[in-house]
Amino acid sequence: MENHSYQLKYTSYASAAELNEEDAKLLIAAREAGHRAYAPYSKFSVGSAVLLENGEIITGNNQENAAYPSGICAERVAIFYASSQYPGVKIIKVAVTAFSKDFPVKAPVAPCGSCRQVLSEYEKLHHADIELILQGQEGGIYRLKNVSSLLPLAFTSDDLR
Ligand code: THU
Repeated sequence: MENHSYQLKYTSYASAAELNEEDAKLLIAAREAGHRAYAPYSKFSVGSAVLLENGEIITGNNQENAAYPSGICAERVAIFYASSQYPGVKIIKVAVTAFSKDFPVKAPVAPCGSCRQVLSEYEKLHHADIELILQGQEGGIYRLKNVSSLLPLAFTSDDLR
C-alpha cells in the first residue's frame, strides 16, 4: 500500500492594485462581461476573459435557462468561443469574476468541475499552462499557474487510447 498526497499552490493578492497591468486589464474585461450575464435564476453573474497568444481577449458570461442544466458557465462560453474562432491558438490566461445583487460574493470564484475539465483539455492540447486569475465581488484575488493543479488525476484523451 502507498499513500499519496497533493498540494495546491496559489498566490493571493489583497486587491487588483497588486496585479500587473495585463492581469488587471483581463479582470476588468471579465467584470464587464459579467455585467452582460443572463442569470435570472441564480442572480449570480459571472464574467470570464481569455487572453490568447495572438493578443486577442475573448470574453464570456454565464447563460442560464429555464431548464436549469441547459445553462452554461462563463468560462466555457468564453473558452469555447475562443477555440471556435481561433483554433490552435494558445490560451495564455483566463480571468474569472463574479458578483450578485442579492448577496456579496466575498471570495474569489473558482471554475466548477466541468469548466476545470474543459480548460484542462486545452492546456493539454497546446502543451502550455493556462494561468487563472480569480476574483469575487469584494476583497482578494487568487492567481494559479495552471488549470491542471485544480484537477488532479484528470480524465484526459490519454485515457481513451
Ligand atoms: N457559474 C459560472 O459561470 N462559473 C463558475 O465558475 C461557477 C458558476 C455560473 C453557473 C450558473 O449560471 C451560476 O453561476 C450559479 O451556479
